[in-house]
Amino acid sequence: MEVFEIIATTLFGLEEILAQELRELGAADIEVLSRAVRYKGDREMLYKSNLLLRTAVKVLKPIGTFYAANEQQLYDKIKKINWDEYFSYNKTFAIDGSTHSEIFTHSKFIALKSKDAIADQFREKYDIRPSVDTENPDLRINVHINDKTVIVSLDSSGSSLGKRNYRLAQTEAPINEVLAAGIILLSGWDKTCDFIDPMCGSGTFPIEAALLANNIPSGRNRKFGFETWGDFDLNLWDEVKAKADSNIISSNAKIFANDIDNKALDIAFANAKRAGVSNLITFDTIDFFHTSHDTGRGLVIMNPPYGERLQVNEITNFYQDIGSRLKHFYQGCDAWIISANYEALKNFGLRTSKKIKLYNGPLECRLQKYELYQGSKKANKIGNESIQ
Ligand SMILES: C[S@@+](CC[C@H](N)C(=O)[O-])C[C@H]1O[C@@H](n2cnc3c(N)ncnc32)[C@H](O)[C@@H]1O
Repeated sequence: MEVFEIIATTLFGLEEILAQELRELGAADIEVLSRAVRYKGDREMLYKSNLLLRTAVKVLKPIGTFYAANEQQLYDKIKKINWDEYFSYNKTFAIDGSTHSEIFTHSKFIALKSKDAIADQFREKYDIRPSVDTENPDLRINVHINDKTVIVSLDSSGSSLGKRNYRLAQTEAPINEVLAAGIILLSGWDKTCDFIDPMCGSGTFPIEAALLANNIPSGRNRKFGFETWGDFDLNLWDEVKAKADSNIISSNAKIFANDIDNKALDIAFANAKRAGVSNLITFDTIDFFHTSHDTGRGLVIMNPPYGERLQVNEITNFYQDIGSRLKHFYQGCDAWIISANYEALKNFGLRTSKKIKLYNGPLECRLQKYELYQGSKKANKIGNESIQ
């Protein structure tokens, strides 16, 4: 099969984790970029990437890279690509633009110029042009500009791979699925010790943990952009899915999803059910401050409220109490906390053993690790280490 270049995009801070996922998939020539990883693979690799990569946002197939110093050059060079090779006038298309450039500053404008170039090419050739469908196009095209370098790609994912189609209901401030999977992978969870999310909200962490521990493909409940491409190979796709299903295992890891809010638990359960993992998670409505973990090793991953609606001293005390609860009732566990509230995190009262900068949507966050030793190890003292 023909081997071509592929770019998988991701979130800030997850690039190395995505590269590791790609190594495990057998991708070639892996190169880590900013918020993306470039690699080589064939059509099977493209299908596998979409189905299996937990930390990719989009899997793109570049079809043209060129230099453009102004909008006319952008239009002309996009128009030079032979679009007949990729779709026809009776199909629909959509364009996503993105830019890091002082010349091209508006991603919407890039998308508009590119759309005009493609539509004009078809109109000039056939006197008819394909229609735009931003929701459900036959072909989604990605135009990315970095300074003056333009990369035009076919978007093989369609909608973002974070849309796993299980979280139809959500509580307030849910964490993105790609970010949740990335945090679990960053934590280095061995997939055997207990996994605990004491403030699970809509259940994203426990659901992603269950999918990961059991090797369940993250994309098994959704459709992908490449399924409407002209060269779509249904037999190959069926083979890729069957192979992935045959790799599903039955993990013994215990996964706990707790929240103080009964409604959140109902939502988390419904989401887990849609993901096919509700039987692999233990759900409980309980206040974190009444919980403990006294069966040795465990991994706590927690995304507490950031406190937008609380008084500063209330949220500071809340975080202080979380730290204290972990210290006294979760000995033997590693705890990873993600929060955008840095002030509150400073009051945790535990020694941070790792700090990682991430973004939850537009919010800059810290993911902090605490090792909760048994007994009175000095590591439970207050202190900070440098950020990664
Ligand atoms: C930011 S949300 C978590 C979002 C979650 N990660 C998701 O993906 O949907 C914070 C959650 O903490 C819960 N919470 C707040 N105080 C709590 C407590 N004392 N014990 C347990 N859960 C609590 C809230 O009910 C809320 O669901």
